[in-house]
Amino acid sequence: MTTTEAPIPVRSPLPQGLAGQTAVILGGSSGIGLAAGAMLASLGARVVLNGRDEARLDAAVERARAAGPDGDVRGVAGDVADDDAIEEVFKRAGTVDHVLVTAGGLGGAGPITEVTRDAARGAFEARLWSVLSTVRTAVPAMAAGGSFTLTSGGLVTRPRPGLAVPVGVVGGIETLTKALAVELAPRRLRVNTVRYGMVDTPLARGGIGAGADEAGDRAFAEAGLQAPLGRWGTADEAASAVLFLMANPYMTGEILTMDGGQTL
Ligand SMILES: NC(=O)c1ccc[n+]([C@@H]2O[C@H](COP(=O)([O-])OP(=O)(O)OC[C@H]3O[C@@H](n4cnc5c(N)ncnc54)[C@H](OP(=O)(O)O)[C@@H]3O)[C@@H](O)[C@H]2O)c1
Repeated sequence: MTTTEAPIPVRSPLPQGLAGQTAVILGGSSGIGLAAGAMLASLGARVVLNGRDEARLDAAVERARAAGPDGDVRGVAGDVADDDAIEEVFKRAGTVDHVLVTAGGLGGAGPITEVTRDAARGAFEARLWSVLSTVRTAVPAMAAGGSFTLTSGGLVTRPRPGLAVPVGVVGGIETLTKALAVELAPRRLRVNTVRYGMVDTPLARGGIGAGADEAGDRAFAEAGLQAPLGRWGTADEAASAVLFLMANPYMTGEILTMDGGQTL
């Protein structure tokens, strides 16, 4: 393990301090990851977006590029469940300051009496091993003061029946956050997680059967009326929590809940 005697650099904790830094976003072609990519580009950061579907990734790169003054945004397609694909992303990214992982679904759902070893292993590899593999690959390419931001969800504290495997796996991301924060602090790297409630993204819309059209907007807005603040979160609101954690050099080991009070 590389350690350094020098403390973590003091930098502006404002999002504007991310200008000129490089951010890799695994799961950056849609939803929260894309919103974070566009926001980072708008601040003058260099952005590398990843996702599996190449057409969706190309469109996302165009959108994020349009948001930025320099348009330094590129895409590297690949599945985070594939170690080689993760290596390729970081090989193409060069020196990296910040990594956001939003990729990986909620596989393995079903009653506990019907859970199979294969399903549980698949969920672990898609969501938790992909994070471990990302971190071990990225660390050697990262500069002091850099950060990882991981993603979990409110189901971890308010589970529902039939979700033991996905909730167990995503809960692992939260404990991993603290373990990695301690392990990587001597390298002056930070690790945090944002725990989201319902956020308006293609994933969340798909979950309630709402599309991207006007009817989908209405259905999503109506469903969100039950939330404490009368609506669910926007992808930009979700992304701004990520930028806060990336930019503030004194944030590490934190599970930041961003759910508009949904878990209260
Ligand atoms: N939206 C919510 O309400 C909500 C609530 C709680 C937690 N979360 C969590 O937040 C994260 C982001 O969600 P989102 O709503 O932004 O979802 P989204 O709109 O579906 O975006 C997910 C992104 O990840 C990519 N992706 C998925 N699996 C991948 C894989 N194996 N390898 C590489 N890229 C992959 C997708 O592109 P491809 O499909 O093309 O690969 C897409 O770019 C997820 O982990 C989700 O569980 C979301």
